Amino acid sequence: MQKVRYGIVGIGKMGHTHALKLQAGIDKNGALTAVCDVAGERRTWAENKLKDVKIYSDYRELLEDGNVDAVVVATPHYAHPVIAAEALNAGKHVLTEKPAGVYTKAVRELNGLAQKKSGQVFGIMYNQRTNPLYKYAKELIDGGELGELKRINWIITNWYRPQAYYNQGGWRGTWDGEGGGVLINQCPHQLDIFQWLGGMPSKLKCYLKEGANRDIEVENDVTFYTEYKNGASGIFVTSTHDFPGTNRLEIDGCGGRLVIEQNLLSEKLTFEKLKVKEDEFNKTNEKFMPRIPMTRVVKRTNAFQNAVRLGLIGQHMNIFRNFSRAVLFGEKLIAPGIEGINGLMISNAAYLSGWTGTEVEFPIDEEKFLAELNKKRGEGR
Ligand SMILES: NC(=O)c1ccc[n+]([C@@H]2O[C@H](COP(=O)([O-])OP(=O)(O)OC[C@H]3O[C@@H](n4cnc5c(N)ncnc54)[C@H](O)[C@@H]3O)[C@@H](O)[C@H]2O)c1
Repeated sequence: MQKVRYGIVGIGKMGHTHALKLQAGIDKNGALTAVCDVAGERRTWAENKLKDVKIYSDYRELLEDGNVDAVVVATPHYAHPVIAAEALNAGKHVLTEKPAGVYTKAVRELNGLAQKKSGQVFGIMYNQRTNPLYKYAKELIDGGELGELKRINWIITNWYRPQAYYNQGGWRGTWDGEGGGVLINQCPHQLDIFQWLGGMPSKLKCYLKEGANRDIEVENDVTFYTEYKNGASGIFVTSTHDFPGTNRLEIDGCGGRLVIEQNLLSEKLTFEKLKVKEDEFNKTNEKFMPRIPMTRVVKRTNAFQNAVRLGLIGQHMNIFRNFSRAVLFGEKLIAPGIEGINGLMISNAAYLSGWTGTEVEFPIDEEKFLAELNKKRGEGR
């Protein structure tokens, strides 16, 4: 195989962008050979804009296409694990869009299948793992620079979505179409990074507001508290009705404090590294209100310039390039598909806690979550 031949299922806002970038040759090891969409208007778009590409209306036909090596799943969320599993069973490599699914029960079954198909590559589009600041944070944490983690707090309220966004209709903003609001649509990237850097919590307590300042049925304002086996704790706050909103991640450990702040114009990471880890310092210190000597590292990226230069999808193509090299040369995946369940489980736990008013332990009761989700789907508009 010289190049990985991709077939994309769902060529809406995200899928059509992937199609254009693949066709433009941004991944030199990848080529677009097929697309599929149930919407005739999207297939007409493909006829007009894509060259030498087979166009299907039923993804099962795309799965039978011998000129497709890897299937990209870019449909609405509920279909992700269904199409991914059928594609694996058809012998294809699979790159699924986030989220891995809407409920962990389906994603766990998919992961079981993927583990049996070990010769096929299964990845997830967690493109934010390629952001240089999160990568650097991961290196610092994995390298022990922050020491034992004590706290992870993320305020991510700059996902502003006005009523007009929700009025587009379709599958968005409904329990039955989308499976939730800000947690399942906007935040899967942050929930993935939250666990990628901070690990999986042991407990979670959540407060959800559904339809806060908006006429929608799903949640658009969420605050949850997490606890970890080592005694650390976390806070995650998100919304889609604040403007300008905030994007600030802070991780505190015995070795110091890491802060990543982002807005449209800039992204900045600050690492304040203690010269002596706090737990060591505390053993011998006799002063009442001491300061621990520290050094400071600051890294910046110009988010706005990057976005313009990369057409906002440089991160996505980083994932494609890595995925193609994984298929062709066995390169390690940046975002293995089986890790998609982790952020999703935090999201499922947040819903379950918010809906039932209880603290939820990990791993969550998947049947209970699914029963509660199905109630919401039944009650939806
Ligand atoms: N990684 C990212 O940064 C990112 C950004 C935006 C969206 N997404 C994800 O991409 C997915 C699609 O989002 P979108 O904004 O493109 O939505 P969209 O509604 O614009 O596109 C979805 C497309 O899938 C088609 N479709 C639905 N069911 C299908 C089926 N069974 N077979 C074939 N086609 C089908 C629809 O007709 C539509 O054209 C979502 O899961 C979303 O979370 C990821």
